Amino acid sequence: VGDHIKLRKGDDGEKGTRVRVLGRVHRERKQKELLFITLRDGYGYMQIVVGGQLAKTYDAITLTRETSMEIIGEICEVPAGARAPLNRELRADYFHIPAHWKAAGGDDAITNRVSADNQSHAHLLDLRHLTLRGETSSSVLLVRDAVEYAFLTAYRELKIRKVSPPALVQTQVEGGATLFKLDYYGQEAYLTQSSQLYLETCLPFMGNVFCIEKSFRAEKSLTRRHLSEFTHVEAELDFITFDDLLSHIEHLICRVLEILFADPVTAAHIKTLNPELTMPSRPFLRMRYSDAIDWLVKNDIPNEEGEPHKFGDDIAEAAERRMTDIINKPIFITHFPREIKAFYMQVDKDDTRVTESVDCLMPGVGEIVGGSMRLDDYDALMAAFKREGLDPEAYSWYVDQRKYGSSPHGGYGLGLERLLAWICKQHTVRDCCLYPRYMGRCKP
Ligand code: 4AD
Ligand code: MG
Repeated sequence: VGDHIKLRKGDDGEKGTRVRVLGRVHRERKQKELLFITLRDGYGYMQIVVGGQLAKTYDAITLTRETSMEIIGEICEVPAGARAPLNRELRADYFHIPAHWKAAGGDDAITNRVSADNQSHAHLLDLRHLTLRGETSSSVLLVRDAVEYAFLTAYRELKIRKVSPPALVQTQVEGGATLFKLDYYGQEAYLTQSSQLYLETCLPFMGNVFCIEKSFRAEKSLTRRHLSEFTHVEAELDFITFDDLLSHIEHLICRVLEILFADPVTAAHIKTLNPELTMPSRPFLRMRYSDAIDWLVKNDIPNEEGEPHKFGDDIAEAAERRMTDIINKPIFITHFPREIKAFYMQVDKDDTRVTESVDCLMPGVGEIVGGSMRLDDYDALMAAFKREGLDPEAYSWYVDQRKYGSSPHGGYGLGLERLLAWICKQHTVRDCCLYPRYMGRCKP
Protein backbone atom coordinates (compact mmCIF):
# COMPACT_ATOMS: atom_id res chain seq x y z
CA VAL A 1 0.00 0.00 0.00
CA GLY A 2 3.20 2.02 -0.01
CA ASP A 3 4.08 5.62 0.46
CA HIS A 4 1.27 7.90 1.60
CA ILE A 5 0.76 10.62 4.18
CA LYS A 6 -1.03 10.21 7.49
CA LEU A 7 -3.85 12.60 8.36
CA ARG A 8 -2.34 13.67 11.66
CA LYS A 9 -4.24 16.26 13.68
CA GLY A 10 -2.04 19.35 14.00
CA ASP A 11 0.11 18.38 11.02
CA ASP A 12 -0.36 21.06 8.36
CA GLY A 13 2.87 20.97 6.41
CA GLU A 14 1.53 19.79 3.07
CA LYS A 15 -0.57 22.63 1.68
CA GLY A 16 -0.01 23.08 -2.04
CA THR A 17 1.47 19.64 -2.52
CA ARG A 18 0.19 16.58 -4.33
CA VAL A 19 -0.29 13.67 -1.98
CA ARG A 20 -1.67 10.17 -1.78
CA VAL A 21 -3.88 9.26 1.15
CA LEU A 22 -5.48 6.04 2.32
CA GLY A 23 -8.36 5.78 4.76
CA ARG A 24 -12.03 5.16 5.34
CA VAL A 25 -15.03 7.30 4.51
CA HIS A 26 -16.05 8.86 7.80
CA ARG A 27 -18.77 10.98 6.25
CA GLU A 28 -19.90 11.81 2.73
CA ARG A 29 -22.07 14.57 1.36
CA LYS A 30 -23.25 15.41 -2.17
CA GLN A 31 -23.50 19.05 -3.14
CA LYS A 32 -24.52 19.74 -6.74
CA GLU A 33 -21.71 18.36 -8.90
CA LEU A 34 -19.36 17.84 -6.02
CA LEU A 35 -18.83 14.95 -3.62
CA PHE A 36 -17.40 15.89 -0.23
CA ILE A 37 -15.77 13.11 1.77
CA THR A 38 -14.33 13.23 5.27
CA LEU A 39 -11.61 10.64 5.16
CA ARG A 40 -10.40 9.04 8.41
CA ASP A 41 -7.21 7.05 8.83
CA GLY A 42 -6.92 6.71 12.61
CA TYR A 43 -4.40 9.57 12.69
CA GLY A 44 -6.83 12.27 11.73
CA TYR A 45 -9.44 13.47 9.25
CA MET A 46 -9.18 15.18 5.89
CA GLN A 47 -11.80 16.79 3.72
CA ILE A 48 -11.69 15.44 0.19
CA VAL A 49 -13.47 17.10 -2.73
CA VAL A 50 -14.28 15.01 -5.75
CA GLY A 51 -15.54 16.93 -8.81
CA GLY A 52 -15.80 16.78 -12.59
CA GLN A 53 -15.98 13.41 -14.34
CA LEU A 54 -14.63 11.69 -11.23
CA ALA A 55 -17.78 12.60 -9.29
CA LYS A 56 -19.94 10.97 -11.96
CA THR A 57 -18.28 7.55 -11.76
CA TYR A 58 -20.23 4.59 -10.41
CA ASP A 59 -17.97 4.29 -7.32
CA ALA A 60 -18.46 7.97 -6.47
CA ILE A 61 -22.24 7.83 -6.85
CA THR A 62 -22.62 4.66 -4.77
CA LEU A 63 -20.00 5.56 -2.15
CA THR A 64 -20.89 4.31 1.33
CA ARG A 65 -19.60 5.21 4.78
CA GLU A 66 -16.66 3.17 6.09
CA THR A 67 -15.57 2.20 2.60
CA SER A 68 -11.77 2.20 2.36
CA MET A 69 -10.22 4.16 -0.47
CA GLU A 70 -7.03 5.48 -2.00
CA ILE A 71 -7.07 9.09 -3.16
CA ILE A 72 -4.52 11.27 -4.93
CA GLY A 73 -4.86 15.01 -5.23
CA GLU A 74 -3.61 18.43 -4.29
CA ILE A 75 -3.93 19.88 -0.78
CA CYS A 76 -5.52 23.34 -0.90
CA GLU A 77 -6.16 25.87 1.80
CA VAL A 78 -9.81 26.67 2.48
CA PRO A 79 -11.32 29.44 4.62
CA ALA A 80 -11.90 28.70 8.32
CA GLY A 81 -15.68 28.99 7.75
CA ALA A 82 -15.64 25.91 5.48
CA ARG A 83 -15.35 23.69 8.59
CA ALA A 84 -12.70 21.49 6.97
CA PRO A 85 -10.24 19.94 9.46
CA LEU A 86 -7.09 22.12 9.59
CA ASN A 87 -8.67 24.45 7.01
CA ARG A 88 -7.51 22.36 4.12
CA GLU A 89 -8.99 20.01 1.59
CA LEU A 90 -7.67 17.53 -0.86
CA ARG A 91 -8.92 18.14 -4.40
CA ALA A 92 -8.96 14.64 -5.79
CA ASP A 93 -7.85 13.90 -9.32
CA TYR A 94 -7.78 10.14 -8.82
CA PHE A 95 -9.30 7.62 -6.48
CA HIS A 96 -9.43 3.88 -6.34
CA ILE A 97 -11.64 1.46 -4.41
CA PRO A 98 -10.80 -2.26 -4.75
CA ALA A 99 -14.06 -4.22 -4.77
CA HIS A 100 -13.60 -5.78 -1.33
CA TRP A 101 -12.80 -2.39 0.28
CA LYS A 102 -16.42 -1.32 -0.17
CA ALA A 103 -18.50 -1.19 3.00
CA ALA A 104 -21.99 -2.63 2.92
CA GLY A 105 -24.26 0.39 2.65
CA GLY A 106 -27.29 1.09 4.82
CA ASP A 107 -25.60 -0.72 7.65
CA ASP A 108 -27.32 -0.12 10.95
CA ALA A 109 -24.08 -0.38 12.88
CA ILE A 110 -22.40 2.32 10.87
CA THR A 111 -25.34 4.65 11.33
CA ASN A 112 -25.14 3.97 15.05
CA ARG A 113 -21.60 5.25 15.10
CA VAL A 114 -22.90 8.72 14.47
CA SER A 115 -26.30 8.53 16.12
CA ALA A 116 -25.27 6.96 19.39
CA ASP A 117 -27.85 8.96 21.34
CA ASN A 118 -30.77 6.95 19.97
CA GLN A 119 -29.39 3.57 20.98
CA SER A 120 -29.35 1.72 24.26
CA HIS A 121 -26.00 1.50 25.96
CA ALA A 122 -25.94 -2.32 25.79
CA HIS A 123 -26.70 -2.33 22.07
CA LEU A 124 -23.91 0.15 21.45
CA LEU A 125 -21.51 -2.00 23.46
CA ASP A 126 -22.42 -5.07 21.39
CA LEU A 127 -21.31 -3.01 18.41
CA ARG A 128 -18.31 -1.46 20.12
CA HIS A 129 -15.95 -2.76 17.43
CA LEU A 130 -17.78 -0.35 15.10
CA THR A 131 -18.81 2.44 17.45
CA LEU A 132 -15.13 2.80 18.38
CA ARG A 133 -14.77 4.41 14.96
CA GLY A 134 -16.77 7.39 16.22
CA GLU A 135 -15.01 10.66 16.93
CA THR A 136 -15.39 10.75 20.71
CA SER A 137 -14.50 7.09 21.31
CA SER A 138 -11.42 7.25 19.15
CA SER A 139 -10.33 10.54 20.72
CA VAL A 140 -10.53 9.04 24.22
CA LEU A 141 -8.45 6.04 23.18
CA LEU A 142 -5.94 8.29 21.51
CA VAL A 143 -5.56 10.22 24.76
CA ARG A 144 -5.27 6.89 26.55
CA ASP A 145 -2.32 5.93 24.38
CA ALA A 146 -0.68 9.26 25.23
CA VAL A 147 -1.38 8.80 28.95
CA GLU A 148 0.28 5.38 28.99
CA TYR A 149 3.38 6.83 27.33
CA ALA A 150 3.31 9.81 29.71
CA PHE A 151 3.46 7.45 32.70
CA LEU A 152 6.44 5.65 31.20
CA THR A 153 8.18 9.00 30.67
CA ALA A 154 7.34 10.37 34.11
CA TYR A 155 8.51 7.19 35.86
CA ARG A 156 11.69 7.15 33.78
CA GLU A 157 12.42 10.73 34.87
CA LEU A 158 12.05 9.63 38.49
CA LYS A 159 14.29 6.58 37.93
CA ILE A 160 11.48 4.25 38.90
CA ARG A 161 11.85 0.90 37.16
CA LYS A 162 9.19 -1.10 35.34
CA VAL A 163 8.46 -4.68 36.30
CA SER A 164 5.78 -7.17 35.22
CA PRO A 165 4.26 -9.10 38.12
CA PRO A 166 2.11 -12.19 37.46
CA ALA A 167 -1.63 -12.03 36.85
CA LEU A 168 -2.23 -15.57 38.14
CA VAL A 169 -1.82 -15.56 41.92
CA GLN A 170 -2.75 -17.41 45.09
CA THR A 171 -3.07 -14.44 47.43
CA GLN A 172 -5.72 -11.78 47.82
CA VAL A 173 -4.89 -8.12 48.34
CA GLU A 174 -8.15 -6.22 48.49
CA GLY A 175 -10.56 -8.64 50.20
CA GLY A 176 -12.11 -11.98 49.30
CA ALA A 177 -15.41 -10.58 48.06
CA THR A 178 -14.08 -9.50 44.66
CA LEU A 179 -11.79 -12.43 43.84
CA PHE A 180 -12.07 -14.14 40.47
CA LYS A 181 -11.28 -17.77 41.35
CA LEU A 182 -9.98 -20.30 38.90
CA ASP A 183 -8.81 -23.87 38.80
CA TYR A 184 -5.03 -23.89 38.48
CA TYR A 185 -3.98 -27.48 37.74
CA GLY A 186 -6.22 -28.63 40.55
CA GLN A 187 -5.27 -25.84 42.96
CA GLU A 188 -7.24 -22.72 43.75
CA ALA A 189 -5.82 -19.56 42.18
CA TYR A 190 -7.09 -16.07 41.42
CA LEU A 191 -6.77 -13.33 38.86
CA THR A 192 -4.76 -10.63 40.59
CA GLN A 193 -6.60 -7.74 42.28
CA SER A 194 -3.44 -5.64 42.51
CA SER A 195 0.27 -6.19 41.92
CA GLN A 196 1.18 -4.37 45.10
CA LEU A 197 2.48 -7.31 47.14
CA TYR A 198 4.77 -8.37 44.28
CA LEU A 199 6.02 -4.81 43.78
CA GLU A 200 7.00 -4.72 47.45
CA THR A 201 9.21 -7.76 46.92
CA CYS A 202 11.11 -5.92 44.14
CA LEU A 203 12.35 -3.03 46.30
CA PRO A 204 15.49 -4.81 47.60
CA PHE A 205 16.83 -5.60 44.12
CA MET A 206 15.29 -3.04 41.75
CA GLY A 207 14.91 0.05 43.93
CA ASN A 208 11.65 1.90 43.33
CA VAL A 209 9.38 0.09 40.92
CA PHE A 210 6.15 0.48 38.99
CA CYS A 211 3.97 -1.61 36.75
CA ILE A 212 1.08 -1.00 34.39
CA GLU A 213 -0.84 -4.24 34.40
CA LYS A 214 -4.40 -5.47 34.38
CA SER A 215 -6.11 -6.01 37.74
CA PHE A 216 -9.31 -7.99 38.10
CA ARG A 217 -12.21 -7.54 40.49
CA ALA A 218 -15.42 -9.50 40.55
CA GLU A 219 -17.40 -6.35 41.32
CA LYS A 220 -21.00 -7.33 41.88
CA SER A 221 -22.53 -3.94 41.34
CA LEU A 222 -22.96 -1.95 38.18
CA THR A 223 -21.57 1.52 38.64
CA ARG A 224 -20.11 3.97 36.25
CA ARG A 225 -16.65 3.59 37.70
CA HIS A 226 -16.23 -0.13 38.31
CA LEU A 227 -14.86 -2.61 35.80
CA SER A 228 -14.11 -6.31 36.25
CA GLU A 229 -10.84 -5.84 34.39
CA PHE A 230 -9.05 -2.52 34.65
CA THR A 231 -5.62 -1.13 33.95
CA HIS A 232 -3.76 -0.49 37.16
CA VAL A 233 -0.81 1.86 37.38
CA GLU A 234 0.96 0.86 40.58
CA ALA A 235 4.23 1.90 42.19
CA GLU A 236 6.13 1.08 45.35
CA LEU A 237 8.73 3.41 46.86
CA ASP A 238 11.43 2.43 49.35
CA PHE A 239 12.66 4.32 52.45
CA ILE A 240 10.01 7.03 52.29
CA THR A 241 7.67 8.83 54.68
CA PHE A 242 3.93 9.24 54.27
CA ASP A 243 4.49 12.87 53.25
CA ASP A 244 6.93 11.73 50.55
CA LEU A 245 4.22 9.42 49.23
CA LEU A 246 1.66 12.24 48.99
CA SER A 247 4.10 14.58 47.23
CA HIS A 248 5.05 11.84 44.80
CA ILE A 249 1.42 11.09 43.81
CA GLU A 250 0.75 14.79 43.32
CA HIS A 251 3.90 15.22 41.25
CA LEU A 252 3.11 12.20 39.09
CA ILE A 253 -0.44 13.30 38.23
CA CYS A 254 0.69 16.82 37.37
CA ARG A 255 3.72 15.65 35.39
CA VAL A 256 1.55 13.29 33.32
CA LEU A 257 -0.81 16.19 32.55
CA GLU A 258 2.14 18.41 31.63
CA ILE A 259 3.42 15.80 29.19
CA LEU A 260 -0.04 15.45 27.64
CA PHE A 261 -0.49 19.21 27.24
CA ALA A 262 3.01 19.55 25.74
CA ASP A 263 2.02 17.38 22.78
CA PRO A 264 -0.09 19.44 20.34
CA VAL A 265 -2.03 16.46 18.98
CA THR A 266 -2.98 15.15 22.43
CA ALA A 267 -3.68 18.65 23.71
CA ALA A 268 -6.06 19.22 20.78
CA HIS A 269 -7.96 16.02 21.57
CA ILE A 270 -8.23 16.91 25.27
CA LYS A 271 -9.40 20.40 24.40
CA THR A 272 -12.23 18.95 22.30
CA LEU A 273 -13.25 16.39 24.94
CA ASN A 274 -12.83 18.55 28.04
CA PRO A 275 -12.29 22.24 27.27
CA GLU A 276 -12.22 23.17 30.97
CA LEU A 277 -9.38 20.90 32.02
CA THR A 278 -6.47 22.86 33.45
CA MET A 279 -3.41 21.97 35.50
CA PRO A 280 -4.54 21.50 39.12
CA SER A 281 -2.88 23.83 41.60
CA ARG A 282 -0.45 22.28 44.06
CA PRO A 283 -0.32 21.23 46.79
CA PHE A 284 -3.60 19.29 46.47
CA LEU A 285 -6.10 19.87 49.24
CA ARG A 286 -5.28 17.48 52.10
CA MET A 287 -8.10 16.42 54.39
CA ARG A 288 -7.92 13.82 57.14
CA TYR A 289 -10.66 11.19 57.00
CA SER A 290 -12.07 12.45 60.32
CA ASP A 291 -12.30 15.99 58.89
CA ALA A 292 -13.93 14.61 55.74
CA ILE A 293 -16.56 12.96 57.96
CA ASP A 294 -17.18 16.30 59.72
CA TRP A 295 -17.39 18.03 56.35
CA LEU A 296 -19.99 15.51 55.12
CA VAL A 297 -22.08 16.00 58.26
CA LYS A 298 -21.87 19.78 57.95
CA ASN A 299 -22.94 19.59 54.30
CA ASP A 300 -25.88 17.25 55.06
CA ILE A 301 -24.53 14.46 52.89
CA PRO A 302 -25.76 11.14 54.37
CA ASN A 303 -24.04 7.75 54.45
CA GLU A 304 -25.31 4.66 52.60
CA GLU A 305 -27.96 4.02 55.26
CA GLY A 306 -29.26 7.55 54.84
CA GLU A 307 -27.91 8.52 58.28
CA PRO A 308 -25.43 11.30 59.04
CA HIS A 309 -21.84 10.07 58.53
CA LYS A 310 -19.95 8.93 61.62
CA PHE A 311 -16.33 7.95 62.26
CA GLY A 312 -15.78 4.42 60.88
CA ASP A 313 -18.18 4.74 57.93
CA ASP A 314 -17.05 4.07 54.41
CA ILE A 315 -17.31 7.17 52.27
CA ALA A 316 -19.38 5.63 49.49
CA GLU A 317 -19.33 6.55 45.83
CA ALA A 318 -22.31 8.91 45.95
CA ALA A 319 -21.03 10.87 48.95
CA GLU A 320 -17.57 11.02 47.47
CA ARG A 321 -18.90 12.43 44.24
CA ARG A 322 -21.00 15.06 46.03
CA MET A 323 -17.85 16.07 47.83
CA THR A 324 -15.72 16.42 44.70
CA ASP A 325 -18.56 18.23 42.91
CA ILE A 326 -18.73 20.84 45.66
CA ILE A 327 -15.00 21.23 46.30
CA ASN A 328 -14.25 20.86 42.59
CA LYS A 329 -10.52 20.21 42.75
CA PRO A 330 -8.27 17.24 43.55
CA ILE A 331 -8.50 16.11 47.18
CA PHE A 332 -6.25 13.83 49.21
CA ILE A 333 -8.27 12.14 51.94
CA THR A 334 -5.81 10.67 54.42
CA HIS A 335 -5.71 8.59 57.60
CA PHE A 336 -8.63 6.20 57.08
CA PRO A 337 -9.62 3.97 60.03
CA ARG A 338 -7.99 0.55 60.16
CA GLU A 339 -11.31 -1.31 60.02
CA ILE A 340 -12.29 -0.04 56.58
CA LYS A 341 -8.89 -0.46 54.95
CA ALA A 342 -6.77 -3.39 53.77
CA PHE A 343 -4.64 -5.53 56.12
CA TYR A 344 -1.25 -4.29 54.88
CA MET A 345 -1.61 -0.61 55.79
CA GLN A 346 0.76 1.05 58.25
CA VAL A 347 -0.85 2.30 61.45
CA ASP A 348 -0.44 5.97 62.30
CA LYS A 349 1.88 6.42 65.26
CA ASP A 350 -0.05 9.32 66.77
CA ASP A 351 -3.52 7.85 66.41
CA THR A 352 -3.58 4.05 66.28
CA ARG A 353 -7.23 3.99 65.21
CA VAL A 354 -6.14 5.16 61.75
CA THR A 355 -3.69 4.22 59.01
CA GLU A 356 -1.16 6.11 56.91
CA SER A 357 -3.44 5.84 53.91
CA VAL A 358 -4.60 8.12 51.13
CA ASP A 359 -7.29 8.26 48.48
CA CYS A 360 -6.95 10.85 45.75
CA LEU A 361 -10.34 12.12 44.56
CA MET A 362 -10.95 13.97 41.32
CA PRO A 363 -13.94 16.10 40.31
CA GLY A 364 -16.60 14.17 38.43
CA VAL A 365 -15.09 10.76 39.20
CA GLY A 366 -14.13 10.45 42.87
CA GLU A 367 -11.34 8.10 43.90
CA ILE A 368 -8.72 7.58 41.22
CA VAL A 369 -5.80 6.58 43.48
CA GLY A 370 -5.60 4.48 46.64
CA GLY A 371 -2.31 4.20 48.48
CA SER A 372 -0.63 3.81 51.84
CA MET A 373 2.51 3.18 53.79
CA ARG A 374 2.89 -0.56 54.44
CA LEU A 375 3.20 -2.46 57.69
CA ASP A 376 6.95 -3.07 57.82
CA ASP A 377 7.12 -4.84 61.18
CA TYR A 378 6.88 -8.64 61.21
CA ASP A 379 4.75 -8.94 64.35
CA ALA A 380 2.39 -6.16 63.31
CA LEU A 381 1.87 -7.85 59.93
CA MET A 382 1.20 -11.24 61.55
CA ALA A 383 -1.36 -9.61 63.85
CA ALA A 384 -3.01 -8.00 60.84
CA PHE A 385 -3.34 -11.37 59.05
CA LYS A 386 -4.93 -12.78 62.17
CA ARG A 387 -7.40 -9.92 62.47
CA GLU A 388 -8.31 -10.27 58.81
CA GLY A 389 -8.67 -14.07 59.03
CA LEU A 390 -5.98 -14.63 56.39
CA ASP A 391 -3.65 -17.63 56.51
CA PRO A 392 -0.09 -16.23 56.72
CA GLU A 393 1.21 -19.46 55.17
CA ALA A 394 0.07 -18.38 51.69
CA TYR A 395 1.88 -15.06 52.20
CA SER A 396 5.22 -16.43 53.38
CA TRP A 397 7.04 -14.80 50.46
CA TYR A 398 5.43 -11.47 51.37
CA VAL A 399 6.20 -11.87 55.08
CA ASP A 400 9.87 -12.58 54.30
CA GLN A 401 10.24 -8.92 53.30
CA ARG A 402 9.88 -8.16 57.00
CA LYS A 403 12.43 -10.84 57.97
CA TYR A 404 15.20 -10.03 55.52
CA GLY A 405 15.82 -6.31 55.49
CA SER A 406 12.56 -4.51 56.23
CA SER A 407 12.17 -0.83 55.36
CA PRO A 408 9.65 1.99 55.65
CA HIS A 409 7.96 1.89 52.26
CA GLY A 410 4.69 2.72 50.59
CA GLY A 411 2.91 2.83 47.30
CA TYR A 412 -0.35 3.27 45.49
CA GLY A 413 -2.54 2.11 42.68
CA LEU A 414 -4.12 4.43 40.14
CA GLY A 415 -7.02 3.31 37.96
CA LEU A 416 -6.09 4.31 34.43
CA GLU A 417 -9.70 4.33 33.21
CA ARG A 418 -10.72 6.57 36.12
CA LEU A 419 -7.88 8.99 35.43
CA LEU A 420 -9.03 9.08 31.81
CA ALA A 421 -12.65 9.63 32.81
CA TRP A 422 -11.44 12.74 34.64
CA ILE A 423 -9.08 13.99 31.91
CA CYS A 424 -11.53 13.33 29.05
CA LYS A 425 -14.67 14.21 31.04
CA GLN A 426 -16.34 10.86 30.37
CA HIS A 427 -19.42 9.83 32.31
CA THR A 428 -18.23 6.25 32.74
CA VAL A 429 -14.95 4.32 32.82
CA ARG A 430 -16.55 1.93 30.32
CA ASP A 431 -15.90 4.50 27.63
CA CYS A 432 -12.24 4.79 28.63
CA CYS A 433 -11.14 1.31 27.59
CA LEU A 434 -11.23 -0.65 24.38
CA TYR A 435 -13.66 -3.43 25.26
CA PRO A 436 -15.03 -2.92 28.78
CA ARG A 437 -15.56 -5.87 31.09
CA TYR A 438 -18.10 -5.62 33.89
CA MET A 439 -20.76 -7.80 35.48
CA GLY A 440 -22.79 -9.26 32.61
CA ARG A 441 -20.43 -8.32 29.81
CA CYS A 442 -17.47 -10.24 28.45
CA LYS A 443 -17.73 -9.44 24.72
CA PRO A 444 -16.85 -8.36 22.08
O1 4AD B 1 -8.01 1.34 46.15
P1 4AD B 1 -7.58 0.08 45.51
O2 4AD B 1 -8.41 -1.14 45.70
O3 4AD B 1 -6.10 -0.18 46.02
C1 4AD B 1 -5.32 -1.24 45.71
O4 4AD B 1 -5.60 -2.14 44.97
C2 4AD B 1 -3.91 -1.15 46.26
N1 4AD B 1 -3.42 -2.50 46.49
C3 4AD B 1 -3.09 -0.41 45.25
C4 4AD B 1 -1.67 -0.22 45.70
O5 4AD B 1 -1.46 0.38 46.74
N2 4AD B 1 -0.71 -0.68 44.93
O6 4AD B 1 -7.41 0.30 43.95
C5 4AD B 1 -6.56 1.32 43.49
C6 4AD B 1 -7.23 2.09 42.36
C7 4AD B 1 -8.53 2.78 42.77
O7 4AD B 1 -8.27 4.03 43.35
C8 4AD B 1 -9.25 2.90 41.44
O8 4AD B 1 -8.77 4.01 40.72
C9 4AD B 1 -8.82 1.65 40.72
O9 4AD B 1 -7.62 1.20 41.33
N3 4AD B 1 -9.82 0.61 40.81
C10 4AD B 1 -10.72 0.33 39.86
N4 4AD B 1 -10.94 0.88 38.65
C11 4AD B 1 -11.92 0.37 37.89
N5 4AD B 1 -12.70 -0.66 38.26
C12 4AD B 1 -12.53 -1.24 39.47
N6 4AD B 1 -13.30 -2.27 39.82
C13 4AD B 1 -11.51 -0.75 40.33
N7 4AD B 1 -11.06 -1.07 41.55
C14 4AD B 1 -10.04 -0.25 41.83
MG1 MG C 1 -9.56 2.21 47.15
